[in-house]
Amino acid sequence: MSIGIAVRRAAGPLEPKLANLYRSFFFDVEDFAARLADLGLFQDVLEIGCGEGAVLTALSGRMPQTRFVGIDTSAACGRLYAGDSMRAQFHTQTAQSLASTHRESFDLVLIGDVLHHVPAALQPRIILAAASMLRPAGRLVIKEWIRKPTPIYWLGYLSDRFITGDRIQYFSREQWIADATSCAPRLRLEREWSLKPWASNHAMVFAYGSRP
Ligand SMILES: C[S@@+](CC[C@H](N)C(=O)[O-])C[C@H]1O[C@@H](n2cnc3c(N)ncnc32)[C@H](O)[C@@H]1O
Repeated sequence: MSIGIAVRRAAGPLEPKLANLYRSFFFDVEDFAARLADLGLFQDVLEIGCGEGAVLTALSGRMPQTRFVGIDTSAACGRLYAGDSMRAQFHTQTAQSLASTHRESFDLVLIGDVLHHVPAALQPRIILAAASMLRPAGRLVIKEWIRKPTPIYWLGYLSDRFITGDRIQYFSREQWIADATSCAPRLRLEREWSLKPWASNHAMVFAYGSRP
């Protein structure tokens, strides 16, 4: 069992607050949600690797008409979601299996702090699955913890490696952009955000269009 899971179990009913506090030291989920909501109106939003539901919770109030689907390979998928439950579904499922039944079904697909947990050989399959689930003119947003020569970057690395207990791989923004656009050529980088509170939090917004 990782240190993170042991501490969460010991926290009992205080777990949601503790989880939010820990995450907010590294990443301001509300800042991310506000930027996503500013992108426009979306009918259907998918989050691949939604974890316990922090991002979809933050989006629920900001996108009051939107339907949400969250998937994750973990059984804890959506466990701490606190938004409108009538508009949200959570499934323990891979992106590839959802893509087999949900072609062109979403206006916005999010992959936030997931790809660095995924083996390199599997990353293109997840990005391709995400792209195939986008409706024409939809958007894919990849949020990553990008490599920087800063102490906070290394603290983030140590936290994921030893508290979450995962084998992780972080890349530069250039590499994430090259990887995404080479495996799914219909993705075109539209904008980027450096998110609070640290510059290692980087989101890349890809528009999905016709082949270049
Ligand atoms: C750091 S959490 C991020 C959760 C959420 N996206 C957020 O920002 O709050 C990383 C998540 O990626 C999930 N994950 C790892 N490999 C995955 C894969 N191959 N497919 C889907 N989810 C995966 C993990 O189970 C974990 O919930």
